[in-house]
Amino acid sequence: MDWNPSSWQSRPTRQQPDYANPAALRGVCEQLRKLPPLVTSWEIESLKSQLAEAAEGRRFLLQGGDCAESFDDCTPGGIANRLKILLQMSVVLTHGARRRVTRVGRFAGQYAKPRSAEMETRAGTSLPTYRGDNVNSADFSATARQPDPQLLLRGHERSAMTLNFIRALVEGGFADLHHPEYWDLGFVEHSPLAADYRRMVHSIGESLRFMETLAGAQVAEISRVDFFTSHECLLLPYEEALTRQVPRRSGWWNLSTHFPWLGLRTAVAGEGHVEYLRGIQNPIAVKVGPNSQPARVAELCQIINPANEPGRLTLVHRMGAHGIAAALGPVIDAVGRSGQRVVWACEPMHGNTESVTPSSGPGKGVPIKTRKFTHILAELEQAFEIHQAKGSVLGGVHFELVGEDVTECTGGARGLTDDDLARAYRSQVDPRLNYEQALELAMLISRRMARDSSS
Ligand code: PEP
Ligand code: CO
Repeated sequence: MDWNPSSWQSRPTRQQPDYANPAALRGVCEQLRKLPPLVTSWEIESLKSQLAEAAEGRRFLLQGGDCAESFDDCTPGGIANRLKILLQMSVVLTHGARRRVTRVGRFAGQYAKPRSAEMETRAGTSLPTYRGDNVNSADFSATARQPDPQLLLRGHERSAMTLNFIRALVEGGFADLHHPEYWDLGFVEHSPLAADYRRMVHSIGESLRFMETLAGAQVAEISRVDFFTSHECLLLPYEEALTRQVPRRSGWWNLSTHFPWLGLRTAVAGEGHVEYLRGIQNPIAVKVGPNSQPARVAELCQIINPANEPGRLTLVHRMGAHGIAAALGPVIDAVGRSGQRVVWACEPMHGNTESVTPSSGPGKGVPIKTRKFTHILAELEQAFEIHQAKGSVLGGVHFELVGEDVTECTGGARGLTDDDLARAYRSQVDPRLNYEQALELAMLISRRMARDSSS
């Protein structure tokens, strides 16, 4: 294979920041090249083998986190809350799916965003769009919006700090399934979902004790669950600088994250992002949209996974509640005909984004980006049905969510309305499910999977 970590440079690329000083970017990449990696090749291998099981329907992938992480949210509470919500959702999913769940966070590096528009205009002033904290700052001023390569170093540090804390928490027993009380978020008590959640946790605790009684020992694997990291593989100079060879294993590894994904806007055969990703050893996720051509998706699979290696490829479809019925089937057929074994994951967020204008409340009259819980759920429900009808397996889900009480998506058990949105809207980019909406979705999916597996 004629590939090296910089071979993408001879291809056209999209969504790269326009750095005023290319020499400064080169200097930063030189520094990054010398810094320690964030993850290891054996962790990546372990994730890949778990994903191979998910493709076969023997595991379930739960991927979630911020649309864009921000440097300011790299706080102990923020990190712990992200873990807690993923843990709670995974317990609920394990309960219904009767499959083990692999948790992958959109964290420890999700600092770069593709954008639809190059410029943003406010009150007659146009500035470059915000592209994530690794590139520029969200404040609306000319200096803040200027891409700064030094931010790549800050992003690497924040990612390392985030991972360091996650590893310490996991090592210390924070994620022990014997102690779900460690990761209770205070709200669970006051939520309309509390009773259901407690019932599921209780029933898992019972099963665990039963198994351990039979085995005569603690099930170690359950005392120490893993989290894997993911981010969009977007800023190729950064990804290249973290691409390394490791002793006693062949090939090149992206050691900035376990599981990079190829965004919809850069998923083009023959261009830089696909060229870069095809050569690394990590498992790769590829976003598939309502307008992705089935034959093109199958071609991407061939390019990225020519050997059909188990666990190598995950197709994350994000087609929208109104697009999935027409668009998903033909993609499943085309990929099936190509013989590729992939993990299918449903991402019911990006196809359901809309702009609403609240008619009252704190954000009255100002358009705001949101997503409806009913649309998110409707896309998921259809995903289960379409895969079932096609004889393929929905092996996972992918969400934008947060472990706090934000008001960014409408609906859910508390019935948030458009007029509630401005009250606690904190996302710099896309609207996320709040903790309660995220848990509710996990419960609804879990019930559906329990029904499917018993029918
Ligand atoms: C994302 O997942 O943050 C994203 C931008 O998605 P997509 O590439 O599918 O639009
Ligand atoms: Co997003």
